[in-house]
Amino acid sequence: MKKTEDLFINTLKEIKYLWCTNKILSKFVNLPEDLRLVNIKNNQIDVTTKLSLWRESNDDSNKKIHKLISSLSFHVKWENGYTEKDVSKNFINNYGFFELIGPTGHFKTSEMALYVNYLDKNTYYPLHNHEAEELYFIISGKAKFENHNGDYDILTSNKTRFHKSFEPHAITTYNNQILSFVIWKNKFEKVSKIIK
Ligand SMILES: [Fe+2]
Repeated sequence: MKKTEDLFINTLKEIKYLWCTNKILSKFVNLPEDLRLVNIKNNQIDVTTKLSLWRESNDDSNKKIHKLISSLSFHVKWENGYTEKDVSKNFINNYGFFELIGPTGHFKTSEMALYVNYLDKNTYYPLHNHEAEELYFIISGKAKFENHNGDYDILTSNKTRFHKSFEPHAITTYNNQILSFVIWKNKFEKVSKIIK
């Protein structure tokens, strides 16, 4: 178990380093000092294996963090958050997230939340929204991020995108999968709704 714990601690170390070197992240929200690793039962879903097999990112700057998160894949509590009532079967198979830092995360804090999001190739994450203000930070891969007005960005490694409270947003992947941090502040309970 010590090895798994080390993986979590080393991942947090890299995230702290990222916060020190990236002003967009540190200005968006403070990363609490006193993050405590708690014992949470892991959970596997379809993307668990997909991420664990994606060991190498072709982007140098986030290589370390990518590898750590990929190695953590079988030790974290994956969730999908949606049912087939709301989204396609393809989306359920190809999407997942886990709360690495947050009120119910592997590192506990009530001050902010940081989720790890994985979306496989050729997948559409339909328009959805939530109360929390949100910042995406791309670890690796590539995807199109858009809002309800058609304002969009193609994001790759190290790029960020901000969503206001309740701003509808969608993600589309083509030939690349995407791994990102989704950081929430203010209201960060896990309530994200698909817009119909
Ligand atoms: Fe979001």
